[in-house]
Amino acid sequence: MSYNRRSFITFLGKATLGAVVAPPFLMGCGQNKNPNAPQLDVDALAALKRLPLKNIAASDVDDLLLTEGLDYQLLVKWGDAINGDDTFGYNNDFTCFIPFDDANPDDGLLWVNHEYINGLFVSGYNRRDPEAKRTKAQVDQEMYNVGGSIVRIKKTNGQWRVIENDPNNRRITGHTPIPFNWDQPVIGKRSAIGTLANCSGGITPWRTFLTCEENYDDCYGETVYDTNNQPSHVRSKYQGWEDFYDHPPEHYGWVVEVDPKDGSAQKHIALGRFAHECCTLKQLEDDRIVAYSGDDQNDGCLYKFIGSTPNSLKEGTLYVADTVNGEWLSLDWASQPVLQQHFKDQTEVLVRTREAALLVGGTQLNRPEDIEIDPISGGVFISLTNNKPKGDFHGSILKLEETAGAYDGLTFEASTYKAGGEAEGFTCPDNLAFDHAGNLWMTSDMSGSAMHKTDKPYMAFKNNSLYVIPRFGEDAGKVIRVISAPRDAELTGPWFAPDGKTLFLSVQHPGEQTQSLDAPTSLWPFDDDRIPKSAVVAIQGPLIEKLNQLQKLTS
Ligand code: FEO
Ligand code: CA
Ligand code: CA
Repeated sequence: MSYNRRSFITFLGKATLGAVVAPPFLMGCGQNKNPNAPQLDVDALAALKRLPLKNIAASDVDDLLLTEGLDYQLLVKWGDAINGDDTFGYNNDFTCFIPFDDANPDDGLLWVNHEYINGLFVSGYNRRDPEAKRTKAQVDQEMYNVGGSIVRIKKTNGQWRVIENDPNNRRITGHTPIPFNWDQPVIGKRSAIGTLANCSGGITPWRTFLTCEENYDDCYGETVYDTNNQPSHVRSKYQGWEDFYDHPPEHYGWVVEVDPKDGSAQKHIALGRFAHECCTLKQLEDDRIVAYSGDDQNDGCLYKFIGSTPNSLKEGTLYVADTVNGEWLSLDWASQPVLQQHFKDQTEVLVRTREAALLVGGTQLNRPEDIEIDPISGGVFISLTNNKPKGDFHGSILKLEETAGAYDGLTFEASTYKAGGEAEGFTCPDNLAFDHAGNLWMTSDMSGSAMHKTDKPYMAFKNNSLYVIPRFGEDAGKVIRVISAPRDAELTGPWFAPDGKTLFLSVQHPGEQTQSLDAPTSLWPFDDDRIPKSAVVAIQGPLIEKLNQLQKLTS
């Protein structure tokens, strides 16, 4: 496989303009020229114009329901063999597709995150059973099922399929050694064992994947400090892996970069340690990188890293957002006396980023989730999914406009683009994706324990969904539900193929509320095993084509 800058620019799919164009970090905002866009004749355009964009009703049906004009095919699901040794992991989230070659956008590598496991299905350990005792073999099985997968996929006769046993197919797991991209050791080590809690992610201009470690404390717990700065260990809530492995919690909670060519990975310390939902990059004209990432916890902050040398995620400065005053506040130990008082060096600042952020005055937000840069306005859109203890049940989308469009600047204006709620028709925004015409796609993430409960504010929304907010035409600005998830599931990882004709999407944790294998709450995707399985689907159909032609059809 050979990668070069031109083919990379041509074939990235997410947050792009035109059907086959560069992502926003590789092109100037507002440039939507697309030399490879399909040229439709007058009749084809007229047919697309007649195709309605129908909102589908909220549903509690255990199936993946799509609005008129969309179809899906199952691409790969949990447990599928991808090579002679490896199987596809559990609870797939972020997806990202990079074709091998700009001459053929239908053949390339798909990266998929595997966020967390449900022991009932993965290892046979039922944490709800007080008598259950877990073995090391069960923990090893659980560790194998997180991380990520690389699979070669190819479209033939309009249908995508995984090329089983392709030499590029591989797994990154909770057991994979991964070095730190940092000059000092992290808790005495130069590398970590494994990656986990891989939620959303991003992509680099040099054609590698970014996978973000989010709720890392679910696996090995966390180190906390008392008022005398004395550390102690807080146990993990769910996995209890620290009973079998003494990997330090500080080795997780990072942005991890994976090279699709050989599966080699590194953890980027300079981007800070917290519950990284995603990492969204903007490449500046001088090739320095700006990276945005949010800390998805109640009252978590928003961060950006500004590189000081070209294409580096190591040399540079991390900032935290003060959204009240519209300022980026430096987390540089050498220039912040308050950080020098509390931490011994920059490494400690980055390991304890959350504490440092509050010390310099970072604003606590309502669970920042996915971040995307609007390819037309250049605005930075951030999902704030909810903050239940503060009475925010439905969340909102925050829009941040860097002063004079300077992504490496230190001031900005923040405003609410849309607030969730029954009147707006959506709740708990999570993943965002701009399509090739600049329409905004958005998933919801009501937690499984809160959905369908009469005493919770989510009854009207029923199952989680995928929405589109059209940019042009009579529906511009409306929130339109186009896909409804199976029971208990969440739709994650939306990623547009380079030609704008396919939307890759994860269906994560169907049947998550299952108490017993005898009575699963979902059977999606209805295979012979009769248990629910997370899977990646490829969505095609004329509605995707219509939305990608929307500006032309409505002008
Ligand atoms: Fe894993 Fe913040 O969603
Ligand atoms: Ca998410
Ligand atoms: Ca979420």
